[in-house]
Amino acid sequence: MADFINRDPRNPQFWDERFEKNFTPWDKGNVPADLQAFMQTRLQTTSQALNTLIPGCGNGYEAAFLAQAGWPVVAIDFSPAAVRSAQAVIGEWGKHVIEADFFAYTPEQPLGLIYERAFFCALPPAMRADIVKRLAALLPAGALLAGYFFFDDAPDPSLKGPPFTIRSAAFHELMSPYFVLLEERAVSDSIPVFAGKERWQVWQRL
Ligand SMILES: C[S@@+](CC[C@H](N)C(=O)[O-])C[C@H]1O[C@@H](n2cnc3c(N)ncnc32)[C@H](O)[C@@H]1O
Repeated sequence: MADFINRDPRNPQFWDERFEKNFTPWDKGNVPADLQAFMQTRLQTTSQALNTLIPGCGNGYEAAFLAQAGWPVVAIDFSPAAVRSAQAVIGEWGKHVIEADFFAYTPEQPLGLIYERAFFCALPPAMRADIVKRLAALLPAGALLAGYFFFDDAPDPSLKGPPFTIRSAAFHELMSPYFVLLEERAVSDSIPVFAGKERWQVWQRL
């Protein structure tokens, strides 16, 4: 394993170093099945595209997938190396990926969807309340937050990360002032880092 200088995931250099050393064990390498199913269901039930933000997008496979389907999508990452990597990996769709900090970024048009994978769990537990507040501020009433969340309800969960697990009850407590849970299920195509602890969830902004 590579030796790392940066140990604080709140710092973009932490992620730069890992992308530059090609150490990205969270990277799935493709578009997860639940997002594909979510998109198919939307296409069957409504022709309305959702203006989408992907925070902490890494290599941005999902941005390419949504853009190819004609959805307006912006994927952001505060690590310049992550943005360079995404632009190399997803080619022409890389124009949908920009360098920006989730806590400072303001979308040009109102959002219909935030899609998340391995972003919430990448940041230390002390930041969780601020992440949820920012998600709530970015989404108008009725808009959706869909994606993958990393849980551990064992009596002695690991406190180490990233990725950091959260207890499902604690997550519900954080979310419930702003969101209602519409959909939830176990994930069948997790990569080893997340296997057995990852759940697909769709939340709606109150
Ligand atoms: C574990 S990686 C996940 C990447 C991608 N979502 C995936 O599923 O492969 C977490 C990403 O979040 C980005 N990130 C962390 N904090 C951020 C912030 N405040 N604003 C934007 N991106 C951030 C990191 O640079 C990193 O690329």
